Amino acid sequence: MHPRTQQNMSRTALFVFCCIFWLGQFINGVQSLKCKCDVCPEANYTCQTDGYCFTTTFFGKTGGIEHNYRCLHKKNIPDIVQSSGISTGFCYESVITNRSDFTKMASSCCNDRDFCNANLTLQLPNDTLYTPAPKYSSFSSLEILLLASIPVILLIVIGSVLCYCVMTKRKRGGTHHHLRHGEDSIEAPDHPILKGVSLQHMLEMTTSGSGSGLPLLVQRSIARQIQLVEIIGQGRFGEVWRGRWRGENVAVKIFSSREERSWFREAEIYQTVMLRHDNILGFIAADNKDNGTWTQLWLITDYHEYGSLFDFLGRNTMDTNGMIRMALSIATGLAHLHMDIMGTQGKPAIAHRDLKSKNILVKSNFTCAIGDLGLAVRHDATTDTVDIPLNNRVGTKRYMAPEVLDETMNVNHFDSFKRADVYALGLIFWEIARRCNVGGIYDEYQLPFYDAVPSDPTIEEMRRVVCVDKQRPNIPNRWQSCEALRVMLKLMKECWYHNATARLTALRIKKTLSNFRTSEELKM
Ligand SMILES: Nc1ncnc2c1ncn2[C@@H]1O[C@H](COP(=O)(O)OP(=O)(O)O)[C@@H](O)[C@H]1O
Ligand SMILES: *[C@@H]1O[C@H](CO)[C@@H](O)[C@H](O)[C@H]1NC(C)=O
Ligand SMILES: *[C@@H]1O[C@H](CO)[C@@H](O)[C@H](O)[C@H]1NC(C)=O
Ligand SMILES: *[C@@H]1O[C@H](CO)[C@@H](O)[C@H](O)[C@H]1NC(C)=O
Ligand SMILES: *[C@@H]1O[C@H](CO)[C@@H](O)[C@H](O)[C@H]1NC(C)=O
Ligand SMILES: *[C@@H]1O[C@H](CO)[C@@H](O)[C@H](O)[C@H]1NC(C)=O
Ligand SMILES: *[C@@H]1O[C@H](CO)[C@@H](O)[C@H](O)[C@H]1NC(C)=O
Ligand SMILES: *[C@@H]1O[C@H](CO)[C@@H](O)[C@H](O)[C@H]1NC(C)=O
Ligand SMILES: [Mg+2]
Repeated sequence: MHPRTQQNMSRTALFVFCCIFWLGQFINGVQSLKCKCDVCPEANYTCQTDGYCFTTTFFGKTGGIEHNYRCLHKKNIPDIVQSSGISTGFCYESVITNRSDFTKMASSCCNDRDFCNANLTLQLPNDTLYTPAPKYSSFSSLEILLLASIPVILLIVIGSVLCYCVMTKRKRGGTHHHLRHGEDSIEAPDHPILKGVSLQHMLEMTTSGSGSGLPLLVQRSIARQIQLVEIIGQGRFGEVWRGRWRGENVAVKIFSSREERSWFREAEIYQTVMLRHDNILGFIAADNKDNGTWTQLWLITDYHEYGSLFDFLGRNTMDTNGMIRMALSIATGLAHLHMDIMGTQGKPAIAHRDLKSKNILVKSNFTCAIGDLGLAVRHDATTDTVDIPLNNRVGTKRYMAPEVLDETMNVNHFDSFKRADVYALGLIFWEIARRCNVGGIYDEYQLPFYDAVPSDPTIEEMRRVVCVDKQRPNIPNRWQSCEALRVMLKLMKECWYHNATARLTALRIKKTLSNFRTSEELKM
């Protein structure tokens, strides 16, 4: 081929490339929506965007309710919203807590008409971080194309010529066109408060000890900086990974986009005000990520290298002190979950509904943290109701209380849920006690009812064993000869009474174990 023709062909190819590039750029950046903007006096309090109009409502410095009205540009919206057009992720209402100044913030987006954010008024959420804001409607890209076709063509021609000139002169790279980036835009990556701080420090700084979680944008920034290392667990909804964030280990539970509701719910529960506790799995962040073909929903928590209590008991035994300490930590976590703290910044009572050894994690000093709050329900004390519609039998069949199995539980009474949790706690105490090593003697690890039902039992099989035959796990004789095991035995029996009202409360169990431990220490 003649070198001349070859050069011409590559020039044509370059020109076509430039056209396509500019067309893409232009369609991407159509600033077609006008919004109210409270920080744009020079533009008659108006901003224009390719994305959404946005309103936030918050308690201002003076105590009154204030509003911000801004534009939310497409480039600042997480991928999932862009790719699916569904109301996930960004426009959730959010609460920001800060040790020195408690701030609540609700935010919402819309794009159905110009200035649609002018009339968006939001209820400040009482205690949740994530509550979906339903205000979405998509405008068709065909409309934009038709309306904007004339300037598009003009721009393509001018742009292409410019691009062509620049490229043929081989002035490659360098020309970063910095998009306008005023106060009316919202940052996602590398939030300023993330600079040079550890996770622990940050959580302490922003959650006032027992508050409700990191600001939404900070959560997103953390999530985007995590590298997944290895799979550490498999559960109901997908995989749990060990990840690294700035040299620290974190656990990442990944839900598929089909399980959006579960992800959402679990993140919401973890961020209940005042939930943070040593014996509840520490929540770090929730985020949605798109790897190009698949949307992943992430839930990021503290990582515990011993894994679940189930894994731990399968591999280890412990002495009586270890057993009491472990049981006490679980009872303490459950008592905190169940407790209802009064006051404006109070904590609602929460029932777990899926308590079992696989959903409890073992920390480095052999105390435990209760995890997997995906099925938990919260008590609304003012209306005496549960905060979500109930589908009766959820949880793990093996650990279901008799009243759950035979559906006689009174679901209108919140204490019923707590009592079902306490029944499961009794079974967990049995699992732990078997692994208590006294004078070199211990029992092999087993799941409760291992000898009464097959693996993955049906409701009917469980009901026959637990409700009809009223069986409970067998008690090895050796337990009678050791005081700590006798204490555990008495407790577990009082946890798994058939009569739910007769069962102990988590708080009572905590106090009993705590007193026993103190008396043991005094003897030493
Ligand atoms: N923070 C964590 N640290 C270590 N292992 C974990 C952690 N979270 C979960 N795992 C492991 O992953 C398993 C499943 O986690 P879980 O939260 O119960 O998910 P699912 O809701 O799918 O059951 C647990 O049983 C445990 O083995
Ligand atoms: C500014 O906006 C108001 C309505 O918000 C409109 O009445 C007024 O004409 C506008 N002024 C200019 C100079 O565009
Ligand atoms: C917390 O609030 C104080 C007082 O308003 C402020 O100075 C500080 O920057 C805030 N910290 C964070 C992390 O937002
Ligand atoms: C906002 O509300 C006012 C009064 O209710 C109404 O006149 C106005 O048209 C509304 N604006 C928009 C953009 O909906
Ligand atoms: C939140 O507070 C409002 C009043 O400020 C009240 O009407 C509403 O019931 C509360 N919701 C919850 C879940 O506590
Ligand atoms: C995205 O994730 C899905 C599911 O984990 C995987 O099958 C797919 O290969 C990933 N795609 C890319 C581009 O990484
Ligand atoms: C276990 O470690 C936690 C901190 O990780 C600490 O608060 C707690 O007191 C420790 N418990 C015991 C019994 O040492
Ligand atoms: C269940 O136990 C409570 C408290 O011990 C008792 O008052 C009640 O009568 C018992 N109910 C039944 C049906 O045995
Ligand atoms: Mg689980």
